Amino acid sequence: MTSPVLERLALPLRTERLIVRASTADDADAVWRYRRLDEVNRWLTTAPQDAAAFRAHFADPERLAVTLLVELPGTGVIGDVMLRVEDAWSQAEVRDRAVGVQAELGWAMDPAHQGRGYATEAVRAVIAVCFTELGLRRVSAGCFAANEASWRMMERLGMRREEHSRETALHRSGEWMDGMNYGLLASEWRALTV
Ligand SMILES: CC(C)(COP(=O)(O)OP(=O)(O)OC[C@H]1O[C@@H](n2cnc3c(N)ncnc32)[C@H](O)[C@@H]1OP(=O)(O)O)[C@@H](O)C(=O)NCCC(=O)NCCS
Repeated sequence: MTSPVLERLALPLRTERLIVRASTADDADAVWRYRRLDEVNRWLTTAPQDAAAFRAHFADPERLAVTLLVELPGTGVIGDVMLRVEDAWSQAEVRDRAVGVQAELGWAMDPAHQGRGYATEAVRAVIAVCFTELGLRRVSAGCFAANEASWRMMERLGMRREEHSRETALHRSGEWMDGMNYGLLASEWRALTV
């Protein structure tokens, strides 16, 4: 299933080394192979306990509609990128102009393929289509402040730290952790890419 948003994209996207494509329920097992690992899911919102629970979670149409998969040719699926278009906050009188103008991004990469710039390469391509094909005005992403790999990647991508909040995010360990939010405006992205 493809969402109205992903249907507006010319998928798959091709980068120098990768293919970024839409997901189907049949991809669940390939994604479970790395999302089942503690080192991956310890920072993620959900950590299903077994393959069956993960399949049900992955196949939710609302989730498939925002999930892109990262493929390394000859290897297969090595990661996933979330692209969720959403409304900006606005005052009531101008609400119609704030509908669907920005996207929240998220990501996870198989540890076997981390440390090679693949995640950066895939997310950079997704950001580019957010600002070109989708015509969005802003992208954002959040993470636990302790998730240094994630915020370092955001900084590699030119995203700007907008918030470092104190003990705002409850980890499933029971610890209230610091949170970070990053953003990038279309105008900032254009300045980066000239
Ligand atoms: C966040 C995550 C996707 C980052 O993956 P990553 O492999 O560190 O990121 P990249 O693929 O961009 O690789 C960057 C590293 O590769 C190195 N690298 C090698 N070749 C590179 C290239 N051609 N281009 C860019 N970087 C390259 C970089 O120097 C960098 O290494 P460093 O961190 O030691 O400086 C990964 O840690 C992950 O999946 N974590 C678990 C899930 C998670 O936390 N998701 C986010 C929740 S908010």
